[in-house]
Amino acid sequence: MTGIDRRPEAESEYADRLRRSERLWNRWSDWYRLSERDFEPIRRELIDRLGIERGDAVLEIGCGPGVNFEPIRAAIGEEGRLVAIDYSPDMVAKATARVDERGWENVTVVRADATTADLGGPYDVAVATLCLSLLPDVGHALRNVYDALEPGGVLGVLDLQPFQSGPARVLNPLVCRFLWWYANWNPDADVPGAVAAVFDDVERLDTHLYGTAYTIRATRSAGPT
Ligand SMILES: C[S@@+](CC[C@H](N)C(=O)[O-])C[C@H]1O[C@@H](n2cnc3c(N)ncnc32)[C@H](O)[C@@H]1O
Repeated sequence: MTGIDRRPEAESEYADRLRRSERLWNRWSDWYRLSERDFEPIRRELIDRLGIERGDAVLEIGCGPGVNFEPIRAAIGEEGRLVAIDYSPDMVAKATARVDERGWENVTVVRADATTADLGGPYDVAVATLCLSLLPDVGHALRNVYDALEPGGVLGVLDLQPFQSGPARVLNPLVCRFLWWYANWNPDADVPGAVAAVFDDVERLDTHLYGTAYTIRATRSAGPT
């Protein structure tokens, strides 16, 4: 785990979080379309705004059963390349089945921990939808993605946060607890802050669902870093 806190207690906590994530997402893999359908237009709009071109190399982390593959594959065409990573073996099996059913030869699904794996690359675009805030160490995951991007490469993020204003904030402790139970959500993960700390140019695109979902477009500088 290069660059990650290697104290035994930190490593053991990291491993526990990863194991819990694997268990939960294996379980939800059979119910995914039902539970995540509401996010479909938000994901598509984000992908449309990343400037993906035919022939591009795209990385997706936390791809789940491959809900983003259609729009990404449509944008890159047959000449491009999509590498999709997920830690849950059952999600990877579902994503692989989707690729096989469509006969896509330029889409590869890999089972790996996106924070620590060698992500390959370089990629023109990376996509992380409903994934970063589940990771035990979002800063390292983002650094890993940044390093896998071409200079000038773009990352698109869709993620969740508690209510930011108004009386609904009273529900935040319940919302956080639910997301932890349901998704292994990491209440300490400041995704927008971590994106801003790692990437060179960061644009908040939109918020949705009463401010609880947001999208970000972040760019790796085209020059030396
Ligand atoms: C909420 S689902 C999101 C799936 C899809 N991106 C979407 O927008 O619906 C989160 C996914 O992240 C994956 N995941 C969690 N921790 C991961 C890690 N450390 N590395 C790679 N994938 C991870 C889970 O297995 C799960 O499939």
